[in-house]
Amino acid sequence: MTRGDGELNLSKGAGGVGAGQEEFESHRGPDDSVDSVVGHGLYPAEAELESIDLSEVDPALADPEAVAEIVAPQRDVQAEVGESLLELREVTMQFGGLTALDAVSFDIKRGEILGLIGPNGAGKTTCFNTMTGVYRPTSGQVRFDGAVLGKLKRNKITRLGIARTFQNIRLFNQMSALENVVVGTDARHRTSVPGALIRAGRHRREEIDAIERGMALLEFVGIGQRATEKARNLPYGDQRRLEIARALATEPKLLCLDEPAAGFNPNEKSALMDLIRKIRDDGYTVLLIEHDMRLVMGVTDRIVVLEFGRKIAEGLPADIRDNQAVIAAYLGVPDDATA
Ligand SMILES: Nc1ncnc2c1ncn2[C@@H]1O[C@H](COP(=O)(O)OP(=O)(O)O)[C@@H](O)[C@H]1O
Ligand SMILES: [Mg+2]
Repeated sequence: MTRGDGELNLSKGAGGVGAGQEEFESHRGPDDSVDSVVGHGLYPAEAELESIDLSEVDPALADPEAVAEIVAPQRDVQAEVGESLLELREVTMQFGGLTALDAVSFDIKRGEILGLIGPNGAGKTTCFNTMTGVYRPTSGQVRFDGAVLGKLKRNKITRLGIARTFQNIRLFNQMSALENVVVGTDARHRTSVPGALIRAGRHRREEIDAIERGMALLEFVGIGQRATEKARNLPYGDQRRLEIARALATEPKLLCLDEPAAGFNPNEKSALMDLIRKIRDDGYTVLLIEHDMRLVMGVTDRIVVLEFGRKIAEGLPADIRDNQAVIAAYLGVPDDATA
């Protein structure tokens, strides 16, 4: 079966817009409340579902040949715990005249939760995008577990073991929660993703495994009881958790979360931070983007602070809290407004 075959009709791309541009256009500031997004009909409508790109779930899924190569790749992590898993070196990203990232360097160490924080527009999501192959840096280098990402495409980078969630949720809304996760499991284990995903497949045993693993992941993130509900019908907070489960299904070496608590109330936020800690304790390395300083203080092992595309501080949460440059960057932004 080829991509696009089947009732889901998952066709490629949104109107020929490049991946990077699409990412940018879908970017809404975290200040946009979820309610307003839903209320104004901006939440993905059924019509839009037709144009969801499988490669948004996992770039490898868009390429049947690449998918065929993904036969349970070893997720052997080269870096020891505490060693650098990802290294950004002097990464600059320019959009026309705008320098969104200006010679940014930092490491993500294996086994840690690294917080990437900064005011709105600081370059956090752009930084993410240079690490996941959405953008190719204007200059500088990104190394991941010994490999230079360089010109690697997104599917290759995913296969190396970087998974992400999006600042604005991207799910297959018509599919059940479980199916959304099995998509991720497929990326990890399957040889024939679209066919296996959509219909009862040839590999019954693998399918059962994928379903079991999917269920386990849903349980892990706390939404096991919602497995058969369509993603679109899940409460917003559960959708965020589902995105995390789907990313984990690829068994990433590095899990990147882009403002996963956006739109959450304080209780939901602290529950989500518990989950992120649990993920780290399970052996994953996590990059957490968040603009709410207080939130990251409690959960991160280290913090990198961006402002206007520059790294202005890096260190332990306690040091960042007292750092004058960081305080100045956040000055004028009341704590409540950043929540
Ligand atoms: N594709 C793009 N084209 C042009 N400008 C962009 C693009 N992506 C991001 N930017 C700009 O780069 C800056 C950093 O944006 P972003 O990384 O989204 O910030 P953050 O995630 O920290 O809020 C902003 O000024 C934003 O407008
Ligand atoms: Mg952002």
